[in-house]
Amino acid sequence: MNAKSIVVMASGRGSNLRVLLDAIKRGECPVDVHLVISDRADAGALAIARQAGVAEVLHINPKDYADREEYDVACGDAIEAAGCQWVVLAGYMRILSPRFVQRFAGSIINIHPALLPAFTGADGVGDALKYGVKFSGCTVHLVDDVLDGGPILAQAVVPVEDNDDYESLHQRIQAEEHLLYPATLKRIVEDGFYIKGRRVIWRV
Ligand code: GRF
Repeated sequence: MNAKSIVVMASGRGSNLRVLLDAIKRGECPVDVHLVISDRADAGALAIARQAGVAEVLHINPKDYADREEYDVACGDAIEAAGCQWVVLAGYMRILSPRFVQRFAGSIINIHPALLPAFTGADGVGDALKYGVKFSGCTVHLVDDVLDGGPILAQAVVPVEDNDDYESLHQRIQAEEHLLYPATLKRIVEDGFYIKGRRVIWRV
């Protein structure tokens, strides 16, 4: 298994995938996106992956499977067959089954558009705005059984301005995501980390 080979799972636009592929091309992130999986045929991420020449680009349709668990087994089999070491979620909108999380325990990472543990769930940006926090940001974290609850690998903070709406805040957060995700992946494969309690301790 190649320690630097990753799968990106994405349901949406794929801007995080795009900047990651660009960073790899510039030699700034020493990973290989070998496989991209989406649950949605119309995901921008699939088009971005195909255009960039990712080795395997798969639309795996949830409708072809009886339930979440079966779907996740199919995704997991594709990931294992491709020999990917890290499962990188980038706007993947499906909750992973416990069995999938267990299968790739400690090797699944996600990026969330808020400063966890605040504003977990599907609308981290909107919830932070509604709550009225003056700072928000993004969090790269390990995925475990608790939704948006795994140990935190990295965070970046952005201010919330008085005239922000959803779009402007999301854009400011995404600009940070686009720096933080490739930088964190680089750190994972180059330096590594260990877990102490809930804390991620970087080896360098
Ligand atoms: C990001 O904001 C990420 O934090 C969240 O989903 C969004 C994905 O955006 N998990 P994109 O598809 O990478 O543009």
